[in-house]
Amino acid sequence: MANPIRASDKPFAVSVEAGKDYWWCACGQSKNQPFCDGSHKAKAEFTPVKYSATQSNTVFFCGCKASANKPLCDGTHKKPVS
Ligand code: FES
Ligand code: FES
Repeated sequence: MANPIRASDKPFAVSVEAGKDYWWCACGQSKNQPFCDGSHKAKAEFTPVKYSATQSNTVFFCGCKASANKPLCDGTHKKPVS
């Protein structure tokens, strides 16, 4: 499987609304980061990841695309890129 594009070196802080679904971009190609804009269809190995907000608050979505807790940031972006 190809690696996703590193869209950002840090997470995206987003105010989410309870009861709404959000589709996180897994491929890194979206022009609407951190969310999917359909660009992944050019590379079939990627599909967006659904995030269902259970409460209204600020969520930090992974921008580097390397988090082990997708779609949320887990601090992996701080590790040096090899
Ligand atoms: Fe990246 Fe859809 S554009 S997963
Ligand atoms: Fe990807 Fe933090 S932005 S782990």
